[in-house]
Amino acid sequence: MSTRAIKVTVNGVAYERTVEPRLLLADFLRHMLGLTGTHVGCEHGVCGACTVVVDGDSARSCLLFAVQVDGAQVETVESLGAIGHLNTLQEAFHEHHALQCGFCTPGMLMTVTDLMRKYPLATDKDIREGLSGNLCRCTGYEHIVRAVRAAVSRARDAPA
Ligand code: FES
Ligand code: FES
Repeated sequence: MSTRAIKVTVNGVAYERTVEPRLLLADFLRHMLGLTGTHVGCEHGVCGACTVVVDGDSARSCLLFAVQVDGAQVETVESLGAIGHLNTLQEAFHEHHALQCGFCTPGMLMTVTDLMRKYPLATDKDIREGLSGNLCRCTGYEHIVRAVRAAVSRARDAPA
């Protein structure tokens, strides 16, 4: 199997790796870079668990090959806050009980990160539409919508 050298910046860190052309971005992130926050559910673009941000747009990392992000900037859930230093969105998820098992959460957070950048004044309709491509088997979605609404309000009201 032939391989290809790629350069990609993930969460601000530049990586150079040699990969097989068939390697999925999700597997590259998880297995070659150890960034296991990106989850893999359906592996065919339906559930959204694997969502990351590539060059400013949310993308399914199970539908991209690692070679396709050669030269790109990728953001994963690890780019957000960490335990003890949650960012506004993560805090809102915590406060509004927007997760149970947590499997869908990394994808939800990255989808909403992209949504909030593009629609800082997102309405409930925007939020529901924005989340419509991410599946959650636990929460019934209402708590997630509440959390995103709270994060949007908090970001909007934060001093510039
Ligand atoms: S694992 Fe990528 S969309 Fe489900
Ligand atoms: S919290 Fe379990 S799938 Fe969403």
